[in-house]
Amino acid sequence: MARKALDWHQPVLLQEVLEYLQPRKRRRYLDATLGGGGYSYEIHRQGGLVLSLDWDPSIVVLAKKRYSCPNASWRLRVGNFARLATFCQEENFCPLSGIIFDLGLSRMHYQMRRGFSFKETAPLDMRLNPHLQETAADLIRRLPEKQLAVFLERLAQEKYAREIAQALKKTIRKTVSAKEVAKAIVDIYYRHGEQPKLHPATKTFLALRMMVNREEKNLSAGLAASLWVLHSRGRLLVISFHSGEDRIVKAFFRQQEGKRKLKILTKQPIYPSERELKVNYLSRSARMRVAEKI
Ligand SMILES: C[S@@+](CC[C@H](N)C(=O)[O-])C[C@H]1O[C@@H](n2cnc3c(N)ncnc32)[C@H](O)[C@@H]1O
Repeated sequence: MARKALDWHQPVLLQEVLEYLQPRKRRRYLDATLGGGGYSYEIHRQGGLVLSLDWDPSIVVLAKKRYSCPNASWRLRVGNFARLATFCQEENFCPLSGIIFDLGLSRMHYQMRRGFSFKETAPLDMRLNPHLQETAADLIRRLPEKQLAVFLERLAQEKYAREIAQALKKTIRKTVSAKEVAKAIVDIYYRHGEQPKLHPATKTFLALRMMVNREEKNLSAGLAASLWVLHSRGRLLVISFHSGEDRIVKAFFRQQEGKRKLKILTKQPIYPSERELKVNYLSRSARMRVAEKI
């Protein structure tokens, strides 16, 4: 049977990203989260030199095929953006005029059978990079129930954290399938007579993914490293998708503004337009903050 074509990632806030980044010919830009390559492609098309990173090797393979790159003016690299300063140095690609972070997962990730989607019978893996040793299923097995509950509450504000932690420990003894794990969470919500608009497993899956991929730690390290490679008046754009990420970005921008290292250009975050919300459901929780290096 022929394999279904991948539903490709549609970039969010693309116009707004280009307005703030203002790509110029022969200037250097880092796309710290390549994904479907939407921003990299456009910056390159407008004459910018681009280095694109993605921690997921399969994403880099897909992008190379789709765009017939790399070439002299658009390079791609597998790597964690926490180490972006090292990559820029190794590629002799600094100082930079702009950096864009578009956090989280691409649309392709939900079709890769790696346990990111609630509908998958695939194992609950959730690693972005195969070199990470622990899958989400391993993590549920290793963590004590109480600690798991604390993480679910802290990372995703899950109100049934304790019950869910208990159910996760129990379910993971019988199965590692993402679908079965999601169902156990749905059952808890139903027992409480709730049918939330978002799938009941959304918060738990988010928290597990964040733990497996150490997302908070990587984001903090990536933001700090950006200051090393941006040139004066270079711009830092960050698109986040939940309040945990946004808090880290907001606090970093404020702290660096206090030290006179950054000037914040967006007093309030930029949200997608009504029009974009209608055509791209993945944009529904996106918000962008921008700052300029002083
Ligand atoms: C929302 S997608 C980016 C979409 C892209 N801007 C586009 O328009 O197609 C986020 C990407 O960041 C990657 N990613 C997540 N954490 C990363 C990290 N620490 N370092 C590098 N890439 C990361 C994911 O693998 C994913 O492909």
